[in-house]
Amino acid sequence: MTATATDKTWTIESLVKWATDDFRTRGIENPRLDAEVIVAWALGIDRVRIIIDGKRPLMGEELARLRDLVKRRRAREPVAYLRGEREFYGRRFVVDKRVLVPRPDTETLVEVAMARTAHRSMSLRALDLCTGSGCVAITIARQRPTVQIHATDVSPDALAVARENAQRLGAYNVSFSAGDLFAAKVPWPKLELITANPPYIASADFETLMPDVRDFEPRLALDGGPDGLALVQRIVAEAPAHLAAGGVLALEIGAGQAAATAALLAARGFRDVTTTRDYGKVERVVSGAWED
Ligand SMILES: C[S@@+](CC[C@H](N)C(=O)[O-])C[C@H]1O[C@@H](n2cnc3c(N)ncnc32)[C@H](O)[C@@H]1O
Repeated sequence: MTATATDKTWTIESLVKWATDDFRTRGIENPRLDAEVIVAWALGIDRVRIIIDGKRPLMGEELARLRDLVKRRRAREPVAYLRGEREFYGRRFVVDKRVLVPRPDTETLVEVAMARTAHRSMSLRALDLCTGSGCVAITIARQRPTVQIHATDVSPDALAVARENAQRLGAYNVSFSAGDLFAAKVPWPKLELITANPPYIASADFETLMPDVRDFEPRLALDGGPDGLALVQRIVAEAPAHLAAGGVLALEIGAGQAAATAALLAARGFRDVTTTRDYGKVERVVSGAWED
């Protein structure tokens, strides 16, 4: 929006078009979608009203707010951080730069965890490592109100967001503590389920990530060490000491890491090691059962 451009009367339609063109020239992936989502959210309207009310003029305060949001998106700040929330498994999670933005791929982790423990659903005690926004733990807790879930993260900042989400979403069967993987204090000695979506990007690949991710999401949530599997290896090695007989370990991993992860589980003595694909058909979750 240049000095002369601000003199004209901006409408919802012209603002969306201007933001779309601006995002497109800057290489943003879904320019029209992002422009519509930002405008609809900032004006507190449904996206469909962008078409219906397209000719409505925008007032000074609205314009200033939209200009600020477009500027932030232009600098590649994720739309979820602009809105301060992201939908996951049909629920809205509060997010900001303290946590990774929940991805649809991670819904596969929830599905696998619930499917593999369906027979234990009444009395399950579970641990969600690397909980971030709490999306995995809170979703399982809300889908299965009788289970007890403990969620941990090494980042106290991330845990503050997870706690807020648990409270907002009424997940009263989730508790939290901070710590490095299994060093965090967990209320129960043996668990029927351990889930984790650990950082799994190889350190050398970090610079090649989209700027939206690389420059805004916490590096602690992404960097998985030299081959990306540093935390996966530790979790697989340490999980058996915390699992009850028949307990399940389910891990989200990156594209191309499934075979190595499945081999780690098998070598550690897990049974029924299974790889599950996400909505995009990428091998995304490796799970196994622990038999003492
Ligand atoms: C990929 S994010 C996953 C967040 C969330 N579970 C999700 O699926 O959207 C990984 C999380 O692991 C946490 N983390 C990184 N290193 C850790 C460690 N050594 N112990 C516990 N948590 C760790 C990060 O703070 C981050 O919140």
